[in-house]
Amino acid sequence: MKENRIIKNVKIATPLGHTALKGEAMGKIHLVDDAIIVIVDGVIEYAGPEKDCPAELLALHAYEYTDAGGRLAVPGFVDSHTHLIFGGFRPDEFSWRLKGDSYMSIMERGGGIQSTVNATRSASPEEISEKTAWLVGRMVEMGVTTVEAKSGYGLDLPTEKMQLEAIRDLQERPDSPLNVVPTFLGAHAVPTEFKGRTAEYVDHIISDMLPALKGLAKFCDVFCEKNVFELEDSRRLLLAAREMGYELKLHADEIVTLGGGELAAELNAVSADHLLHVSDEGIRRMAEEGVVATLLPLTAFALKEPFAPARKFIEAGAAVALATDLNPGSCFSGSIPLTIALACIHMNMSIEETLTALTLNGAAAVGMADKVGSIEKGKQADIAILEFDNLNYLPYYVGMNCVRTTIHNGRIVADNQPKI
Ligand code: NIG
Ligand code: FE
Repeated sequence: MKENRIIKNVKIATPLGHTALKGEAMGKIHLVDDAIIVIVDGVIEYAGPEKDCPAELLALHAYEYTDAGGRLAVPGFVDSHTHLIFGGFRPDEFSWRLKGDSYMSIMERGGGIQSTVNATRSASPEEISEKTAWLVGRMVEMGVTTVEAKSGYGLDLPTEKMQLEAIRDLQERPDSPLNVVPTFLGAHAVPTEFKGRTAEYVDHIISDMLPALKGLAKFCDVFCEKNVFELEDSRRLLLAAREMGYELKLHADEIVTLGGGELAAELNAVSADHLLHVSDEGIRRMAEEGVVATLLPLTAFALKEPFAPARKFIEAGAAVALATDLNPGSCFSGSIPLTIALACIHMNMSIEETLTALTLNGAAAVGMADKVGSIEKGKQADIAILEFDNLNYLPYYVGMNCVRTTIHNGRIVADNQPKI
């Protein structure tokens, strides 16, 4: 549903452009005081100083009005890496990790991803859609207007298809509160029925799953990791996917330094994600090839791992995006506020770079920077109005939700105004 709306009495803080901002350009945020935003049929027609807005535009349509009370509007956030569709939960694993168990050893014992695969294979469609609706509702309250969602908890054709169809249904609902970008992650783990036969599982993905799921996913992703899908299998899979028209993403260098960043550059992937242990050469090559570095600080935090080297990427001239990695295992959190706090406090990103990473660069990481990710004429009217009038509140209100109103296609999709 698309609306005509005027947001008045507002300030604007936004990156500008239709491609990712790289290196020091990430810090360039366009600020407008005393602004007005005019939205026609869900698209921004004017965003700038109120005094410069053409009077005829204001009279041209019937509008809904939002008075922002002098507050700050930023682009709706783009959560460009999530595993949104899954059965069951894994709180016990979290408690084992608190006692010293490691993510990979739990996975090698048949827990981890395989445990969510078992739960997803046996979940009813109602369980899946109820849980998805709940998670999406929380995201939208935090200002998210575009989310990437991966399959990867089926690891067989019927269940991968079910996950991608759930993603499609969410996108196609006429009242959907956000854009949804589907990613096929059949290479998330080797399922038990293929244990010890990784290459055969990759063959199965290439010959049976990729062709069957082509219309349902925009991206193909792989968990490129030691003892999961190593470089050769990842390369083979991604080359086949690219041949079939998928765009590419990688879970790269998350647990150990494997050369995932370099592989992403070699294959011209749209993004490589995690990158906690990326090599300097991987950083250099990704910057050179324009691969977006999608960093996921909530996962590092939840796994007690070192944060990804955001400053090194920015200094190398790369584009950095930030996302939550919401999933039932390594990081059961979709918290945008905590992502902002960790990026600013622990990854030494400036507040401006953090905003760019969560909006325009996130949009570039899902191939949508021409449509969303900034507040400017011609873009989809996806906007988060904050409680405050200043960008500095974003990390300062630590881990708390600064968003008052979320607007998608010009329509109010979350209103957090106090009810007391
Ligand atoms: O991005 N590392 C691989 N995949 C997910 C975790 C999935 C899970 O534990 O269920 C991640 O961290
Ligand atoms: Fe992930």
